[in-house]
Amino acid sequence: MDYKIAVLPGDGIGPEIIEQAIKVLNAVGKKFNHNFQFTEALVGATAIDRAGDPFPEETFQLCMDSDAVLFGAIGDPKYDNDPKAKVRPEQGLLAMRKKLGLYANIRPVTTFKSLIHKSPLRRDLVEDADFVVIRELTGGIYFGEPRGRSEDLTTAYDTCVYTKPEVERILKLGFEYAAKRDKRLTVVDKANILATSRLWRETAQEMTPAHPDIEVDYMFVDNAAMQIIQWPKKFDVMVTENMFGDILSDEASVITGSLGLLPSASVGIHTSVFEPIHGSYPQAAGKDIANPVGTVLSAAMLLELALNLTDEAQAIRDAVDKSVTEGIVTEDIAEDKAYKTSEVGDWLSGNL
Ligand code: IPM
Ligand code: MG
Repeated sequence: MDYKIAVLPGDGIGPEIIEQAIKVLNAVGKKFNHNFQFTEALVGATAIDRAGDPFPEETFQLCMDSDAVLFGAIGDPKYDNDPKAKVRPEQGLLAMRKKLGLYANIRPVTTFKSLIHKSPLRRDLVEDADFVVIRELTGGIYFGEPRGRSEDLTTAYDTCVYTKPEVERILKLGFEYAAKRDKRLTVVDKANILATSRLWRETAQEMTPAHPDIEVDYMFVDNAAMQIIQWPKKFDVMVTENMFGDILSDEASVITGSLGLLPSASVGIHTSVFEPIHGSYPQAAGKDIANPVGTVLSAAMLLELALNLTDEAQAIRDAVDKSVTEGIVTEDIAEDKAYKTSEVGDWLSGNL
């Protein structure tokens, strides 16, 4: 089969890690007889520099015309240190989410046995933890209006807004994930305080009877933040609103000790975007030292979720497991010899 994949390398280490994922996808294509057609476009700080816009129209069109989008990272310190910058790379990310309708960010939280000692938690707490955080991505306080400053600049405000269809859409995905997994769904909110959270909880309660095989529980976000580090193994699927999900998904990923290895998917109405959960790591850009595995596993998620190529995705995961076990890894997780980004990419493509 022929597939069209939009490739958005973005900033920092983005280009070099994306290059490895493309190598691996090409090797998968060869082995399983698929033809992946990759087309690159600009996003992030690179896009501001070259096109004056962090998510140019051309990039948007390319994404719309593709079967899936593979994305590296965005972010550049020159913008982080300039709070007055008129356009910021992160606006590109938000524009991409909104315009492509990327309503759900899915982050599987899994551990690698040989890396558990890198976890900030005790081995017995985190070993075999395996859950999924589903974060709503196009609503809530990230996009709500009104937002801004009072005329005298002494007051600032943001608005958290959710509509029932938005909540139903993401909860539906949560139920679907739970059904495919251990059949437990945790709805995280702040229903003791927030009106939007009460809408979430009420909607989840209405949907629950239609899913009698799923065990649903409700947790306030502050409690969830504690439980993720106390009993990470108790979770199966967690679903939550945009900002809570931003925070909890970072917390959840860091307890595995394998931040550089974790993928994510942003499921969209028009097309879906796949990216590693780590950032643009500007200090490492161009040095061929960054860990490409988060991106390679994002490519595996792309095959599975966007193209329905399950065996192909599993072949990538198996190769990654093997590389991690055999120590064919970059310096961030190497015990003795550290391999280069490109060497890990070559090894994975050769060991599918
Ligand atoms: C993420 C990031 C973004 C977010 C930033 C870069 C806008 O933290 O993807 O989680 O807050 O959503
Ligand atoms: Mg975040």
